[in-house]
Amino acid sequence: MNECCDFLVIGSGIAGLCFAIRASHFGKVVMITKKQDTECNTNYAQGGIACVLDPQDCFESHIQDTLITGKGLCKEESVRILVEEGPQRIKELLQWGVNFSKSETESNPFGLHLGKEGGHSVNRIIHAHDLTGREVEKNLLKQARESKSIKILEHHSAIDLITDHQLGTKHIERNRCYGAYVVDELSRTIFSVQAKITCLATGGSGKVYLHTTNPDIATGDGIAMAYRAGAQIANMEFIQFHPTTLFHEKANSFLISEALRGFGAILRDASGNEFMEKYHPMKSLAPRDIVAQAIDKEMKLSGESCVFLDIRHSPADLTRKHFPNIYAKCKEYGIDITKDLIPVVPAAHYMCGGIKVDTYGQTDIQNLYACGEVSCTGVHGANRLASNSLLEALVYSRRAADFSASRLRSIDNISPETIPVWDDSGTIDNEEWILLAHNFKEIQSIMWDYVGIVRSNIRLYRALRRINLLENEIEDFYKRTKITVRLLELRNIVTTAKLIVKSAIKRKESRGLHYTTDYPEQNDRYWRHDTIILKTAHR
Ligand code: FAD
Ligand code: SIN
Repeated sequence: MNECCDFLVIGSGIAGLCFAIRASHFGKVVMITKKQDTECNTNYAQGGIACVLDPQDCFESHIQDTLITGKGLCKEESVRILVEEGPQRIKELLQWGVNFSKSETESNPFGLHLGKEGGHSVNRIIHAHDLTGREVEKNLLKQARESKSIKILEHHSAIDLITDHQLGTKHIERNRCYGAYVVDELSRTIFSVQAKITCLATGGSGKVYLHTTNPDIATGDGIAMAYRAGAQIANMEFIQFHPTTLFHEKANSFLISEALRGFGAILRDASGNEFMEKYHPMKSLAPRDIVAQAIDKEMKLSGESCVFLDIRHSPADLTRKHFPNIYAKCKEYGIDITKDLIPVVPAAHYMCGGIKVDTYGQTDIQNLYACGEVSCTGVHGANRLASNSLLEALVYSRRAADFSASRLRSIDNISPETIPVWDDSGTIDNEEWILLAHNFKEIQSIMWDYVGIVRSNIRLYRALRRINLLENEIEDFYKRTKITVRLLELRNIVTTAKLIVKSAIKRKESRGLHYTTDYPEQNDRYWRHDTIILKTAHR
């Protein structure tokens, strides 16, 4: 049962949903999503969305905060678009019924409460308490489900993009995309979704690391698929580690939002001393790269397993009111944040690099677009400013949908027979799942131990050698084995890990989220440019 549509959207987070909702005004949309439609990074977002709404704030200030945090690698044009188109997108969310937290004392036009986070010079974070992502996702899904032009297929995973390269088309000027092969996880059938426009909105890759704030879906699938299809991948060395996730064996790196520090929480060491003043004038609210590196250093110096967040000085009812989710979750683990110190450690959180796109979400493969965390628009540079990610997804998915819709009529239909049926003859059902599970852990441990907050040549090359071995082993296994989602994820994780390591090896300086002891200084003369990786003929 192959599918045909105008737009194939892969992913049902904020980027995929916004793209789909807009594109549905212009054509038929098929949206596939790996698990349940709500299961995505978006759903777990806490702090909020950065946006200039307050009359005391201005675009220039948000632009400057973003550029400073991005350490010379942001594209100013992309940042300007992000900031200037932001308010319009927020207005739309409000019209769709997103219920952001209000405050009677605010002077902005919508009366929204504006929080503060690291690297921002003023309060500009709109939020729905500390459950912003859930509120946004719920409303976007409602819009998408109500549209007659959008078909949502849950538990459907994209395996690979269908492109000229893959079809072996001769004499083409530019590689084109025609959709994707998809596996239905429940029936285990594989089919093609043929589309004039394909939009990758598959999110990030936190699961490449042993400790991450990301849910299980974040396995770098879009990055790996685009790379295999020949798209340029940029700046993968810039993995953002969130400074504060709950340190508790059962908490699974639960995020303690930066908004808590914006609300007044202070970072302390095990002896109760404030330590951030040694590292940055903004102290606990410095940009994330600086806070995460400082915590890593403090932990190494003291030999302790965590540092602490202290919000005990805030009135308890106010803390509970603003952070009901964090309060309840910590309580489950026996920590009352209004009375106790909160033990925290950094964990992998966000992928600043991704599939290189222009300001309309176009990749260098024709008819293939990317938006959200999977893309690299140039907005984040070497480090993302807090709460700019949801905003980027909103602004750039809309631009990609409008631009691709304007191209729709000029794209020829290709006859369905041109797309070969998926061939899995000669593959067998695998019974050795322990091997897969072991490979997952091995990759995650290598990345955590050797490609973390502080890097060095010795560690990176060691990681590369091991990742290369694992990649060959997994590719061999993949060719012999019937497809399952777990196997696809393993294949994508190892590719994404390789791209991170290779990019980190290429950049011979320290900048933003990439800190290496071999080249501890920022070197603007040679390295103020993107790190690009493109698949070569043999690998
Ligand atoms: P996602 O929301 O992750 O959606 C990806 C989608 O793609 C999912 O539906 C997934 O199932 C699907 N998918 C993946 N692979 C495949 C495949 N092969 N086939 C089919 N479907 C696939 N950012 C902020 O700006 N503010 C915040 O307050 C904030 N808080 C955060 C808190 C947490 C705990 C986390 C993890 C992130 C936070 N971020 C925040 C970052 C932000 O949430 C994400 O960057 C953003 O939600 C990404 O949106 P997306 O649509 O690109 O991807
Ligand atoms: C947080 O709430 O601390 C996360 C914000 C973000 O990732 O931008």
